[in-house]
Amino acid sequence: MSFQSKPSVLISRQEIEVTVNRLAGEINNDYRDKHPVLVAVLKGSFIFLADLIRRLDLPLEIEFVRLSSYGRGKESSGKISVVQGLSTEVKGRHVLVVEDIIDTGLTTNFLLDYLRQKEPSSIKVCALTSKPSRRKFPLTIDYLGFTIPDKFLVGYGLDYDEKFRNLPDICFIEEEQ
Ligand code: PRP
Repeated sequence: MSFQSKPSVLISRQEIEVTVNRLAGEINNDYRDKHPVLVAVLKGSFIFLADLIRRLDLPLEIEFVRLSSYGRGKESSGKISVVQGLSTEVKGRHVLVVEDIIDTGLTTNFLLDYLRQKEPSSIKVCALTSKPSRRKFPLTIDYLGFTIPDKFLVGYGLDYDEKFRNLPDICFIEEEQ
């Protein structure tokens, strides 16, 4: 599988900013006095997380988890393992998962199972983008930025083969004919 090298803008940096502000407003409202732990999934969520938390007017903590799905590339293989887990206890805490994209839902479902075993008080999910047409593992997204079509996205943290994460807009790339 190969893709054209020039990404096209799907969601501009200005639209992203408006949406991140909206999500932060919702989270600020719901987590007032709650001191949440935000759990971000590496690598793709790092730019979204950085923008989101600077708009959160809350005492909060950040945790990163690194998950591995065997076989990189466009399609995930369906097997996931924890490469780097939480570095703190979340028992009795309010946990908010922060994802850049929910595609099949496999990653988020796996992460939610992993987190539930740690007995937090609550778990919610915040995703900047979601592709509902690709969902194989149903889940509830409590804070959703954009519903997107089934295109291959890059930029704003998202990669193709580790490239394009630095693009400031959310872009798409298409397969070569
Ligand atoms: C992406 C994204 C999610 C996952 C979503 O990560 O950040 O974690 O895929 O796909 P799913 O809903 O089908 O499970 P990826 O595996 O590309 O790793 P990366 O974040 O390091 O780029």
